[in-house]
Order: sequence, then structure tokens, then C-alpha cells
Amino acid sequence: MATLTKAAVMQMPACDHQPRPYTGPSRDEVLALRRRYAHPSLFTLYREPLMLVEGHMQWLFDEAGRRYLDLFAGIATVACGHSHPEVARRVQEQVATLQHASTLYLHPNVAVFARELAARLPAGLDVTYLVNSGSEANDLAVTMARLFTGRADVIALRNGYHGGSPSAMALNGLYTWKLPTQQSAGVHHAACPDPYRSPFPGSPAEVASRSVDDLRGVIRTATPGQIAAFIAEPIQGVGGVTHGAPGYLRDAYAVAREHGGLCISDEVQTGFGRTGDHFWGFERSAVVPDIVTTAKGIGNGAPLAAVTTRREIAETLTQWLHFNTFGGNPVSAAAGLAVLEVIEREGLQANARVVGGRLRAGLDDLQSRHAIIGDVRGHGLMLGVELVRHRGTREPAAGATLEVLERLRECGVLVGKGGLDGNVLRIKPPLCITSEDADFALEALDYALAHAGAA
Ligand SMILES: Cc1ncc(COP(=O)(O)O)c(C=O)c1O
Repeated sequence: MATLTKAAVMQMPACDHQPRPYTGPSRDEVLALRRRYAHPSLFTLYREPLMLVEGHMQWLFDEAGRRYLDLFAGIATVACGHSHPEVARRVQEQVATLQHASTLYLHPNVAVFARELAARLPAGLDVTYLVNSGSEANDLAVTMARLFTGRADVIALRNGYHGGSPSAMALNGLYTWKLPTQQSAGVHHAACPDPYRSPFPGSPAEVASRSVDDLRGVIRTATPGQIAAFIAEPIQGVGGVTHGAPGYLRDAYAVAREHGGLCISDEVQTGFGRTGDHFWGFERSAVVPDIVTTAKGIGNGAPLAAVTTRREIAETLTQWLHFNTFGGNPVSAAAGLAVLEVIEREGLQANARVVGGRLRAGLDDLQSRHAIIGDVRGHGLMLGVELVRHRGTREPAAGATLEVLERLRECGVLVGKGGLDGNVLRIKPPLCITSEDADFALEALDYALAHAGAA
């Protein structure tokens, strides 16, 4: 009981938002409805599913009014904060004015939003196609690369995640996110350059160079030697916040281009300031992609995603008809415009750097005290903590990871999990969290790690 008492007395930072009294169906009723009528493949995170009915910035509330510090942000999606007042106001205004007409007609939001994305991307990356989800964005990016190059082969990275549609799924490098169904052919996977789990020994620089050799080898052995595209997340999100050894992306882009490929940066998780030092994940490697795909944080929860590329690449698609009913929806685009303004006005990228740095330092300290932490990685507010049964063998501690999630929930802290073995805590909060929140989360994590047991 002593441990529960500790979780119960931990001081959560103050919040001046009062949730409205919840009057809807009970949690048990919702659970029963969902079990009866929702697709059975939907899954929840906790032993006892958590119901959330209200949000305010970095806070979420359950039906009983209990408050949680959200360190997962609807899977790295709620960039500005839950129901951020400005984003909500702009969305509400647009819904009340014109919800949908389609891109068959002109509407300012699509055009202005595309211009604003171009203004934040390197010169030349200035033509955007809006869609609804990250999967769609990656499908379209790969399709455009294939049409532009006239080639079919695409190289993705092992341990990467790019979506759930059949063609995005083909890009996934995780068996856990592939179905035994026919997927887009011509996708090959090169070694993941993350030093912690790389099959190659040596320093991070050696891992980077051997992983680049592997990429070259895949192109030379599994393709006709010329490819359509190379796609990678600058930091693999679902794969457990793994990122390439320094120098990898720069050299991988060079190899892909030597073999005729376009370079696609999947910025679905790393975009919009989340990594702190940079607005885009690819900037850390000082590379310029040919195509950038975005989703999640772009809309703060609105179904909005984008493919941005150079005009000559985009032009190829005009030889055929291609349409997306909701792509460029005025409401989603209004959300996107508000998100860009809020990120800038509220200094959220700088906050990601500062608070992320504090969290990272605290996680490193926890690693020095908890043997179960094998690796801490990430940048800004995209952080991962890999739990292992033994540091020497690096055997994944998947059971303990679930226990840590449960203990954190007791403390009122929500995090995600990922990695091929489900043993990485994923910390990707709304970018508005404070240093005080970070300290509270670290205290909770210290408690959770101490009480998770060696499951
Ligand atoms: C890096 C990355 N790309 C693409 C996707 C797919 O996005 P969506 O679920 O919106 O289709 C995800 C989703 O988690 C992602 O993390």
C-alpha cells in the first residue's frame, strides 16, 4: 500500500481548467458498445481501458473528471495542445461558414496554407497536395516518385513505419505492422541505422557507414540498380524513437540519388518543431529531401496531411486524373493555418528544445539509477526510453514496459509505447508542456520504474 500512497500523493502541477461535468454514457456502457459494434481490431493501451472525454492543452480528463498529464498527444499529433483555444476558434468559425466544397472550387485556405508550408520548407519544395492522413501522404509521395522516375523500386528502412494502407504498409519495416496480404510490390528494406540495435558493430559513425553500405547493397542486389525513391523517417516513431547514427541520412540520400532515386522524408512525427532544434526532422542531417510528407502535428488533431515537393515532380501527376474528396478541406486547412501561427506565436519549437532538453537530462539521470533502462534517445519532445531485462544482452523487457505504463497511469501520466518488441516508452507530449510538468513526469517515471518489477 505504501507505493500506492506515494502515487496518490505525488503533486501534479496546477491547472486552471475545470472540466465540464460529464453526462454521457458511462465508461462501462461505452466499453460494451465498442465491444459490440466497433471493429474488433481496435485496441486500447491499458489493462482497464481509459476513457477520455475532455482535453485542455497538455491535460486530459476522464469521465470522472480525473486529470492526466498527456505525454503522448494522441500519438504525437496534438502539437499545440488539446482543444487549443485559438485552433478551436478558427476551426469552429470555418465549420460555421463553409465546411466542405472540394478542390473543384477555389477556397483561400488551401492556397494560403500551401504557401505557408512552402515558406517553412527549403527553397524549391513549394508545391503541396493536401490529403487526410499520413498513410495517404506516403502513398501519394511514392506514387509521384514512381511516375516521375518511371521506375518502381522503393527503398525503405527496417524498423520504419509509414502507415496502414496497402501501399504504405509495404513500406513498413516492422512485422507487427504488416498484414499477410498482397501489398505494393517493389519495396525493399535496408538496415536501420540506429546504433542501439544495429546488426553492425562499432561506433555510431561505423554503424552509419556500414548501414549506408547495406543500402547500396540492397539497391545493387534487389533492384535493377536504379530506384524510384528512398523513404525514411528522420527519427523512427512507431519503431521506438530510433534515429540514425549521425551522418547516415546525408550519405544515404547521396547513395539513393546516385541510383536515380528521389528522397522522401516522412515528417509525420518529426515535423512542426517537435524535435526542438529544428522545424523539420531532416534539418538535423543537413539534407534537403525531394518530397516531404506531413500529418499528425500539422492539424493538431484535424484529419490533415500533406505531400510537398518540387514543381517538376508534381507536374508528372497532371498527366492523369487524381482526386481526393477531403484533401484541402477548408476546415482542416483552417486548423493547419492556426497550428502554424500558434507554433510561432507561442514559441513551441523553442519550448520543445528547452523542456525536451530537461526531460532528456532527467531520463539520462533515471538511466543511471534504473538498470532496466537500456537506452534513452531522441530530440526535443520526441523521446524514447528502451527497457531491457539485462543491459548486457539487451533482451527487451516488454512486460515491464506495460507495467510502467500502468504505474504511470496511477500517477496521472500517460505515455505511449513502441518498438518492434513493444519495449520502448514513447514520450511525445503536446509541445506546450512546461518544465514543471517535465519534473512531475520524471518523478512519476522514477516511481513507475521502481515498481514495475522485472516482468
Ligand atoms: C512516421 C509515420 N508516417 C506515417 C504514419 C501514418 O499516418 P496515419 O495513421 O495518419 O495514416 C504514421 C502514423 O503513426 C507515422 O508515425
